[in-house]
Amino acid sequence: MKQIVITKYGDPDVLKIQERKDPQPSAEEVLIKVKAIGVNFADILARKGLYPDAPKPPCVVGYEVSGTVESAGPGVDASIVGQSVVALTRFNGYSDRVCVPEKAVFTIPESLDFEHAAAIPLNYLTAYQLLYVMGGLKKGESVLIHNAGGGVGLAALDISLHLEATTYGTSSVGKHSFLMERGLNYPIDYRNQDFLSSIMNLTGGKGVEMVLDPIGGNNWKKSYKALRPTGRLGLFGVSTVTDSTMGRVFQFIKLIAQTPRYNPLRLMNANKGVFGVNLGHMWNERDKISGWMQEILKGVEKGWVRPHVDRTFRFEQAGKAHRYIEARKNIGKIVLVTGG
Ligand SMILES: NC(=O)c1ccc[n+]([C@@H]2O[C@H](COP(=O)([O-])OP(=O)(O)OC[C@H]3O[C@@H](n4cnc5c(N)ncnc54)[C@H](OP(=O)(O)O)[C@@H]3O)[C@@H](O)[C@H]2O)c1
Repeated sequence: MKQIVITKYGDPDVLKIQERKDPQPSAEEVLIKVKAIGVNFADILARKGLYPDAPKPPCVVGYEVSGTVESAGPGVDASIVGQSVVALTRFNGYSDRVCVPEKAVFTIPESLDFEHAAAIPLNYLTAYQLLYVMGGLKKGESVLIHNAGGGVGLAALDISLHLEATTYGTSSVGKHSFLMERGLNYPIDYRNQDFLSSIMNLTGGKGVEMVLDPIGGNNWKKSYKALRPTGRLGLFGVSTVTDSTMGRVFQFIKLIAQTPRYNPLRLMNANKGVFGVNLGHMWNERDKISGWMQEILKGVEKGWVRPHVDRTFRFEQAGKAHRYIEARKNIGKIVLVTGG
């Protein structure tokens, strides 16, 4: 089999295709012949050495694939062989063949091709956990979605619209018309405007009931201020670490220095909540993930889950795909296709 290996920390040129022995599924696993691979921001952080959860190089990242089941371990019902599936992979997704526990594998709804199926798991599960499971967003409430044009951002928009919330979203201005066509009520050009002032103006000084913030640092402080009483702030990323030209250690020190501390008494008196989501730390909660994924796949059939693939790149163009995302060109998902 072929894998895209992060050979060392560095720019996209450190990604190299290497041949490996074909993997064999263990008792509870299936072997997937991969057709499409979802590329995530976390893969870029891993390549740069800014993602502490990732394995050390040389390593293979990748959290999600779609493809056909080629074989199954002895503990798995053999009728799954030949099915078109989408799967969560804990790393190793940048491969043309991968073994995955059966519990992390889901049948693809008929309406989806492999590329769109691979665009679903990480983005929609994260947004679902943030908004639905932990944030409890309700009809008539309002939500500010940062990075609204990114993969998680578009998934969060779909879910918020489904829950009949009013949606505010920050993104670069070139993505606004697309976002409004998708149903976003109020786009905010956060690069040229102060998003906190914008949100306060738009809400008559009240603020919103939920903010989803994957930026980190000072942004988290401002997002907290954008909450009205009963508001909840969902923290789920630190994209800001990629902005700096400083070394890795200084980037982390700066991040820690900028990270707010939340005082329980102040939270109580402000009637606000703060919580965190890291899907990468949910692997031991397979039953929960599986239940959420079933709901999301039902949403595909009902039409409220609308994965958007901005571009596909060939397997051997993984470096180009990373560059495209780093240049912030993508709206929604970038997918690698194996051609297999
Ligand atoms: N905790 C979790 O479980 C989890 C799961 C998935 C993702 N995440 C996090 O969520 C964030 C977004 O992920 P994604 O896959 O949706 O990303 P994505 O699709 O690659 O979106 C990236 C977009 O974010 C915006 N952005 C804002 N600040 C940025 C910065 N400092 N550097 C680069 N881009 C920035 C840019 O849009 P504009 O053009 O609008 O500026 C960029 O196009 C990342 O921080 C990721 O690590 C966390």
